[in-house]
Order: sequence, then structure tokens, then C-alpha cells
Amino acid sequence: MSITTPQGPITPAHPRAALDADSVRDAYRRWAGVYDTVFGGVSAFGRRRAVAAVNRLPGTAVLEVGVGTGLALPRYDRTKRVTGIDLSREMLEKARERTAAEHLTHVDALLEMDAEAMDFADASFDIAVAMFTASVVPDAKRLFAEMRRVVRPGGRLLFVNHFAAENGPRWWIERAMAPLSRTLGWHPDFALHDLLDPKSPSVETIQSVPPAGLFTLVQVLNDGLDASAPALAA
Ligand SMILES: C[S@@+](CC[C@H](N)C(=O)[O-])C[C@H]1O[C@@H](n2cnc3c(N)ncnc32)[C@H](O)[C@@H]1O
Repeated sequence: MSITTPQGPITPAHPRAALDADSVRDAYRRWAGVYDTVFGGVSAFGRRRAVAAVNRLPGTAVLEVGVGTGLALPRYDRTKRVTGIDLSREMLEKARERTAAEHLTHVDALLEMDAEAMDFADASFDIAVAMFTASVVPDAKRLFAEMRRVVRPGGRLLFVNHFAAENGPRWWIERAMAPLSRTLGWHPDFALHDLLDPKSPSVETIQSVPPAGLFTLVQVLNDGLDASAPALAA
């Protein structure tokens, strides 16, 4: 799709690999001090919905991928045991301060680790949840594969994120913003199919989350099928 301007047609650039681990670290070093003020409010509903879904699921061992400043940590049931990982030392420092200040004894560990290559053994967790992180990691399919690996068979993977529109004016704006990925610290043009196939039988729920359906909560059963691969035609 292109848009016609007085200067002629423009087709938005679309550099998918704009973020690498160092640019994520740089971006979140800058965001860490203001993250809660700038993003805490608008994303609160999505975070609350995702953690409520985690709390309803069986199993206690929870991995939060891209835990950031730990905004979600106080919301987990105290019966869950939570491990958080993040690439950004500065974001993790905020999460550690929160854990100490609020006596979050259900938080087992906050570790500096790459979600695309985790140090955990296979099937270490019952649940893995990524809140507003899938559109930030350099390679969402690798994130998905790693989350599948570290969650036990029958466990769940959850994602809450903003996913780019598939068409229309919002699609165009989000594609046009893609070159800003490194500055923003996320991919504005990140779409649901960049993460998984929404038609996969492993996908249990896809729910729109306020405000104004800006965010989507996706729950996937770790059933041995690869929901990130396009479904084979029947
Ligand atoms: C938009 S913030 C979301 C933070 C938190 N989940 C929340 O709900 O506020 C994205 C986080 O993902 C982290 N991140 C990005 N890529 C990562 C990776 N490959 N491994 C671990 N963390 C990563 C960033 O450092 C950042 O803290």
C-alpha cells in the first residue's frame, strides 16, 4: 500500500530488524527513569488483565519475560512464585527497588537475561507471560520458541501487546513509524502474525483490552504444536 502526496506516492519503509539487543538496552536505559509515568497508566488495564489470567491458571511457577520496572509484580497471587527477566539493567534495578519496598516475597528472582536465549532448563515453568515485550524483542519468533521451551507441556504462554493494524490508515501510520524503532525502543509496525498464527489450534483466547481495544491479550496452550508457524492448508 502507498499513499499519494503532492511529491508523489510514498510507500512506508519497513525495517523489521531495526532493534538489536544493544539498541534495546540503550532505549530502556533512557526510559527507565520515566517509564512508569509515561507508560504505566495507558498500559495498566492490559497488565491487570494479563496477570488476572495468570492467577486463574493452574501451576505456581511463573516466568515474566521483559519484566521491566516490575509494574505487574504486586498483582500476582501470593501462591505464585515469580521469576522476572529483562535485558535492561536499569529497568531491573527499578523492579528490584519495587520488590524490596513492597515486600513482594512471591518474587523469587529478577535476572538480567536475554529472552531469546534463556539460561533456564526446558519445562522449568508452568506459565510464561510477556507484557508489552513481544514488540520490543529483536526477534519475536525466537522469543516465542524460547517461551515454549521453558514452559512445561500443558502450560500456558500469555502475551499482552499492541498489535499493528492489518490495513487502513492506522496500518499506514504504524508502517511509516517503523524507522523510529531504535529511538522508541519498540516496533510500531509489529503485527500479531509476527508472533504467531492466530488460527493455530494452540491459541486458546485472543481478547481485545481497553483502552479502545488498543491492546490484545493472547493465551496459548503449550501443546507441542508450534503456534508461531503458519497453519498448513487442509
Ligand atoms: C515496553 S517494556 C515492558 C515492561 C513490562 N513488561 C511492563 O509491562 O511494563 C519492554 C521490556 O522488554 C525488555 N526486553 C526487550 N527485549 C528483551 C529481551 N530480548 N530479553 C529480555 N528483555 C527484553 C526491555 O528491556 C523492556 O524492559
